[in-house]
Parts: sequence; C-alpha cells; structure tokens
Amino acid sequence: MYTLIAATTNAHKLREIRSILNIRSIALKSLADFKNSPTVIEDGQTFEENAIKKAREYYEFFRQPVIADDSGLEVDALNNEPGVFSARYAGERATDADNNRLLLERMRHIPAEKRQARFICTVCFTDGKNLKTFTGVRQGIILDELQGGEGFGYDPLFFIPEYQKTYAQMDREEKNRISHRGLAFAQLKAYLEEKLNFSEM
Ligand code: IMP
Repeated sequence: MYTLIAATTNAHKLREIRSILNIRSIALKSLADFKNSPTVIEDGQTFEENAIKKAREYYEFFRQPVIADDSGLEVDALNNEPGVFSARYAGERATDADNNRLLLERMRHIPAEKRQARFICTVCFTDGKNLKTFTGVRQGIILDELQGGEGFGYDPLFFIPEYQKTYAQMDREEKNRISHRGLAFAQLKAYLEEKLNFSEM
C-alpha cells in the first residue's frame, strides 16, 4: 500500500479529494491523522507558490509522499480578489458566511454583465525526488444572492452558466466532475496511475 498524505485539515476539501483520487492501492491520510503536524504559512503570491511551499515543507516533516493544494476565487471586477486570500477574505477567523457577506457587499454595484469570476486550484505532489503541479480552472459568475445548500465556501454564490447551477446546487459527484479541484486532481490521478502503475478501483 502506498501512503499519500493530503496536507489539509479542511474536512470538506478532504472529502472531495478522497472521492476524486479514489485509487485502491493508495492509503490517503490527512493532517488530521497526525498529532503536532506543523502549520505552513501560506504567504505566496500565487496558488502555485503556496501549493509548492506546503508540499515541500510537509514532505520535509513527514518524509512521505505528500499532496498539497491551494485554491481560491478570482473575481474580474475586484482585480482578481480575493485570490490567495479567499479563505480569510473577511479576516483571519472569517467563516464562510462572513466571506460570502463581504463578497456580496463588494459586488453590490457591479452589473450582471461584469460579474465574471473563476475558481482556481493548484495541487502539488512531491515524494522528495519528483515535484509536479497540476492546475484546474472553472469559469463562472458571482450571483447577488446565495443559491443552494451543498458544498462549502463561496459555492452558493458561484453560478456556472453551462450548467445553470451554482456549485452549491450540485451534489458532490457532479461538482467533482466539473470543478476546478476536480480538474486539477484528475490530472494528478492520471500522473499517479502512470507513475505508480496503479489502476482505478
Ligand atoms: P485553501 O484551503 O487555502 O485552498 O483556501 C481556499 C479557500 O478558497 C476556501 O476557504 C474557500 O473560501 C475558497 N474555495 C476554494 N475552493 C472552493 C470551492 O470548491 N468552493 C467554494 N469555495 C472554495
């Protein structure tokens, strides 16, 4: 069994990662399985910088293959904010509700045709020898009210015209098939399957 540590404590993200990766010969662990795992400061300017930094630092700590991802929302009308600050847009201890409220407030005067945004996810894998990054992007529109009760974060505000739904109106499987995280992790999965010659369940 090949052990892979997902460098996250976010239970929602981990659930999504588990159902996307889903390789039988990989035992996927997360930071929640270890006591005293260090905190890595996410001070990069890009999702890729943060993902690489986290993967490297957790690899140094665990000395086992690691995946680390960084993700967030870029809104055109806000000069790509909240970007790498997505998790703490409304402050260090902000909840999803706080962040959504602030986003709605900042977008209050933005007309419908200028509400484009994108979710981006970069995942980095390293086993000490190899280091690889994979990025997924999903374009959408920021609504002016919450719609849907699934998912987490900005899901209820992120509407995807092709599907006529927000992320929060999709079940987990549907979201994973089309989401920024799904697209990034599908590339990682293909890489791992080839590299390790693993097969899907
Ligand atoms: P990270 O844990 O540093 O990657 O923070 C990502 C932040 O971006 C989350 O806390 C959410 O606010 C937002 N985010 C990333 N991916 C998603 C998603 O799939 N749905 C909703 N919000 C997301």
